[in-house]
Amino acid sequence: MRKDFVHIGGTKNETRDRDVPLVRRWQRELVDYALELGMGKDGLLFRPNTSFTHARLRRGCARSENRAAEGGSMLTRRELFGGALLLLPLVRAARAESCGAADPNELGPFYRAGAPQRAVLCDTVEPGDPYRLRGRVLGEGCAPVADALVEAWHADHHGDYDMSDPGKPRDPSIYHLRGVLRSGADGAYELRTIVPGHYGRRARHIHFLFHANGYEPFVTQSYFPDDPRVATDPIARRRNVVRNGVFTVQLRRPRPNSPEAIARFSGYEGDYVVESERPMRERTRAVVTRAGDALFVQLDGWPKMELRFSAPDRFRVIEFDAQGHAERGPDGKVVALAARAYGDSHDERLVRAP
Ligand SMILES: [Fe+2]
Repeated sequence: MRKDFVHIGGTKNETRDRDVPLVRRWQRELVDYALELGMGKDGLLFRPNTSFTHARLRRGCARSENRAAEGGSMLTRRELFGGALLLLPLVRAARAESCGAADPNELGPFYRAGAPQRAVLCDTVEPGDPYRLRGRVLGEGCAPVADALVEAWHADHHGDYDMSDPGKPRDPSIYHLRGVLRSGADGAYELRTIVPGHYGRRARHIHFLFHANGYEPFVTQSYFPDDPRVATDPIARRRNVVRNGVFTVQLRRPRPNSPEAIARFSGYEGDYVVESERPMRERTRAVVTRAGDALFVQLDGWPKMELRFSAPDRFRVIEFDAQGHAERGPDGKVVALAARAYGDSHDERLVRAP
């Protein structure tokens, strides 16, 4: 049996019994969630290790050592010191431009649009340790971004969201532990809530989606400094561990798709399915549409997402924190879209629907 697929649905699950390709981390997060719910492992098959392997890292180190032994390519202390001095201004410039800001981090499967405007995400009887998070929204040149829209959501003290499946809130009228707030003139915002619980392999985290005029949406997650799971969570970004109670993000100016990239847009539109070698009772479908100089992909049950092209046939998907590329057939037509999320070791593919 191939190990690329997640089979969701154990004996305790009455609602899901299907083979789902391991498309992105989102489904993996759902599997973790399912495990946490006590479905047991009988009905679950998941790829045991999709993170960057240490073996690969060791091979890379070994090659470096061999090169050093063969040809004296090792640097002397003087060369190292001199090189470090030369690089110092570049490192400082890079640090300055990064503003000490968080890395992007994927949206995950539990996002819901339309949360109420509030900075306090729960009332005083909410179980869990109270938590206050101060944040800063910066933009170009690390300048504060005023009036940015900050969407925040997270699991409760037990690791449960108010949604049991993507697009399926338990009660559509209730937005539990979700809120939308705005940054002030100095780019600052502050939210109050409780410390979220663990679920599956995930470290404690709070999801964020930032919007501001003139900037790309920014998707990320914040983490907790005393949480050992940050070291083992394959999705966690260590730079996003909140130090001193302040979580800083930097928004990017949108980069329009280049004319060269747009010139190759013809042939993208249409229906796709998530690649699978197994017969599936319920396939995950996707539709790619074009609107002027932009391309969008919509998968069943997920928000519509833009493919942002950094080069012809090469794109980013902000919501997945993924880099992707188009695969073309001999006739030049797009036959598949492949994308790899941060921390993942393989591409996920959408192939043309037959
Ligand atoms: Fe999450």
